[in-house]
Amino acid sequence: GGYAERALSIIDDLKHLEGPMLPILHAIQHEFGFVPEEVKPVLARELNLSRAEVHGVVTFYHDFRDAPAGRHVLKICRAEACQAMGAERVVDQARQLLGIDFHQTTLDGAVTLEPVFCLGLCACAPAAMLDSEVYGRVDEHSLTELVAEARR
Ligand code: FES
Repeated sequence: GGYAERALSIIDDLKHLEGPMLPILHAIQHEFGFVPEEVKPVLARELNLSRAEVHGVVTFYHDFRDAPAGRHVLKICRAEACQAMGAERVVDQARQLLGIDFHQTTLDGAVTLEPVFCLGLCACAPAAMLDSEVYGRVDEHSLTELVAEARR
Protein backbone atom coordinates (compact mmCIF):
# COMPACT_ATOMS: atom_id res chain seq x y z
CA GLY A 1 0.00 0.00 0.00
CA GLY A 2 0.93 3.64 -0.39
CA TYR A 3 3.10 3.02 -3.41
CA ALA A 4 0.73 4.67 -5.85
CA GLU A 5 0.45 7.80 -3.77
CA ARG A 6 4.19 8.19 -3.24
CA ALA A 7 4.80 7.41 -6.90
CA LEU A 8 2.41 10.17 -7.87
CA SER A 9 4.51 12.80 -6.15
CA ILE A 10 7.65 11.47 -7.90
CA ILE A 11 5.81 11.57 -11.22
CA ASP A 12 4.61 15.12 -10.55
CA ASP A 13 8.18 16.22 -9.90
CA LEU A 14 9.56 14.73 -13.11
CA LYS A 15 6.85 14.63 -15.72
CA HIS A 16 7.78 18.02 -17.15
CA LEU A 17 11.04 16.47 -18.43
CA GLU A 18 11.45 15.64 -22.06
CA GLY A 19 11.17 11.85 -22.25
CA PRO A 20 10.09 11.56 -18.62
CA MET A 21 9.45 7.81 -18.53
CA LEU A 22 12.96 6.52 -17.78
CA PRO A 23 13.89 9.21 -15.23
CA ILE A 24 10.59 8.55 -13.44
CA LEU A 25 11.10 4.77 -13.44
CA HIS A 26 14.64 5.17 -12.11
CA ALA A 27 13.39 7.49 -9.36
CA ILE A 28 10.63 5.04 -8.45
CA GLN A 29 13.02 2.11 -8.30
CA HIS A 30 15.43 4.20 -6.26
CA GLU A 31 12.64 5.05 -3.81
CA PHE A 32 11.08 1.60 -3.43
CA GLY A 33 13.85 -0.75 -4.58
CA PHE A 34 11.59 -2.02 -7.37
CA VAL A 35 8.76 -0.88 -9.62
CA PRO A 36 5.53 -1.95 -7.91
CA GLU A 37 2.76 -3.27 -10.15
CA GLU A 38 0.25 -0.76 -8.78
CA VAL A 39 2.45 2.12 -9.93
CA LYS A 40 2.15 1.19 -13.60
CA PRO A 41 -1.46 2.32 -14.13
CA VAL A 42 -0.69 5.60 -12.35
CA LEU A 43 2.27 6.17 -14.61
CA ALA A 44 0.22 5.28 -17.69
CA ARG A 45 -2.51 7.73 -16.73
CA GLU A 46 -0.11 10.56 -15.90
CA LEU A 47 1.93 10.17 -19.08
CA ASN A 48 -1.02 9.42 -21.36
CA LEU A 49 0.24 5.98 -22.27
CA SER A 50 -1.37 2.58 -22.23
CA ARG A 51 -0.55 0.19 -19.38
CA ALA A 52 0.93 -2.16 -21.98
CA GLU A 53 3.36 0.56 -23.07
CA VAL A 54 4.49 1.17 -19.51
CA HIS A 55 4.81 -2.55 -18.86
CA GLY A 56 6.82 -2.92 -22.09
CA VAL A 57 9.35 -0.31 -21.02
CA VAL A 58 9.72 -1.76 -17.53
CA THR A 59 10.38 -5.26 -18.86
CA PHE A 60 12.62 -4.10 -21.72
CA TYR A 61 15.21 -2.50 -19.45
CA HIS A 62 17.12 -4.97 -17.30
CA ASP A 63 17.62 -2.31 -14.64
CA PHE A 64 14.06 -2.42 -13.39
CA ARG A 65 12.85 -5.04 -10.94
CA ASP A 66 9.25 -6.05 -10.45
CA ALA A 67 9.83 -7.31 -6.91
CA PRO A 68 12.10 -6.24 -4.07
CA ALA A 69 15.66 -7.61 -4.32
CA GLY A 70 17.21 -9.92 -1.76
CA ARG A 71 19.74 -8.66 0.76
CA HIS A 72 22.47 -9.24 -1.82
CA VAL A 73 22.43 -9.03 -5.59
CA LEU A 74 24.71 -11.33 -7.57
CA LYS A 75 25.14 -10.27 -11.18
CA ILE A 76 26.84 -12.40 -13.77
CA CYS A 77 28.09 -10.88 -16.99
CA ARG A 78 26.54 -12.35 -20.11
CA ALA A 79 28.14 -10.08 -22.69
CA GLU A 80 30.41 -11.31 -25.44
CA ALA A 81 33.88 -11.38 -23.88
CA CYS A 82 32.56 -13.23 -20.85
CA GLN A 83 30.53 -15.62 -23.00
CA ALA A 84 33.72 -16.48 -24.88
CA MET A 85 35.45 -17.27 -21.58
CA GLY A 86 32.79 -19.62 -20.28
CA ALA A 87 30.27 -17.36 -18.58
CA GLU A 88 27.51 -19.89 -19.27
CA ARG A 89 29.27 -22.39 -17.00
CA VAL A 90 29.31 -19.77 -14.24
CA VAL A 91 25.64 -19.03 -14.87
CA ASP A 92 24.72 -22.71 -14.66
CA GLN A 93 26.67 -23.13 -11.47
CA ALA A 94 25.07 -20.05 -9.90
CA ARG A 95 21.62 -21.34 -10.82
CA GLN A 96 22.44 -24.66 -9.21
CA LEU A 97 24.04 -23.27 -6.06
CA LEU A 98 21.20 -20.84 -5.46
CA GLY A 99 18.36 -22.96 -6.78
CA ILE A 100 16.95 -20.01 -8.73
CA ASP A 101 17.04 -18.53 -12.21
CA PHE A 102 17.82 -14.98 -13.30
CA HIS A 103 15.49 -12.32 -11.88
CA GLN A 104 14.62 -14.53 -8.94
CA THR A 105 15.47 -14.33 -5.25
CA THR A 106 16.31 -17.24 -2.95
CA LEU A 107 13.52 -18.20 -0.55
CA ASP A 108 15.50 -16.99 2.45
CA GLY A 109 15.65 -13.53 0.83
CA ALA A 110 19.46 -13.61 0.79
CA VAL A 111 20.36 -13.43 -2.87
CA THR A 112 18.86 -12.13 -6.11
CA LEU A 113 20.48 -13.39 -9.32
CA GLU A 114 20.65 -11.01 -12.25
CA PRO A 115 22.34 -10.88 -15.63
CA VAL A 116 24.46 -7.88 -16.49
CA PHE A 117 25.88 -6.81 -19.84
CA CYS A 118 29.56 -5.92 -19.47
CA LEU A 119 31.12 -4.85 -16.20
CA GLY A 120 34.16 -3.35 -17.91
CA LEU A 121 36.25 -6.31 -16.81
CA CYS A 122 36.41 -7.99 -20.22
CA ALA A 123 40.17 -8.57 -19.86
CA CYS A 124 39.46 -10.64 -16.74
CA ALA A 125 36.43 -12.51 -18.07
CA PRO A 126 34.26 -14.12 -16.93
CA ALA A 127 33.16 -11.37 -14.57
CA ALA A 128 30.60 -11.11 -11.80
CA MET A 129 29.47 -8.53 -9.28
CA LEU A 130 28.26 -9.06 -5.73
CA ASP A 131 26.49 -5.92 -4.53
CA SER A 132 28.96 -3.19 -5.50
CA GLU A 133 32.14 -5.34 -5.71
CA VAL A 134 33.30 -6.67 -9.08
CA TYR A 135 35.19 -9.93 -9.51
CA GLY A 136 37.15 -11.18 -12.51
CA ARG A 137 38.20 -14.63 -13.71
CA VAL A 138 35.31 -16.18 -11.86
CA ASP A 139 35.60 -19.95 -11.69
CA GLU A 140 33.85 -22.71 -9.85
CA HIS A 141 35.86 -22.12 -6.72
CA SER A 142 35.48 -18.34 -6.50
CA LEU A 143 31.79 -18.48 -7.34
CA THR A 144 31.20 -20.95 -4.52
CA GLU A 145 32.96 -18.53 -2.18
CA LEU A 146 30.94 -15.58 -3.43
CA VAL A 147 27.66 -17.39 -2.94
CA ALA A 148 28.70 -18.51 0.54
CA GLU A 149 29.61 -14.92 1.40
CA ALA A 150 26.27 -13.64 0.13
CA ARG A 151 24.43 -16.17 2.26
CA ARG A 152 26.27 -15.45 5.48
FE1 FES B 1 31.87 -9.30 -19.35
FE2 FES B 1 32.89 -7.05 -20.42
S1 FES B 1 31.94 -8.68 -21.40
S2 FES B 1 32.94 -7.71 -18.38
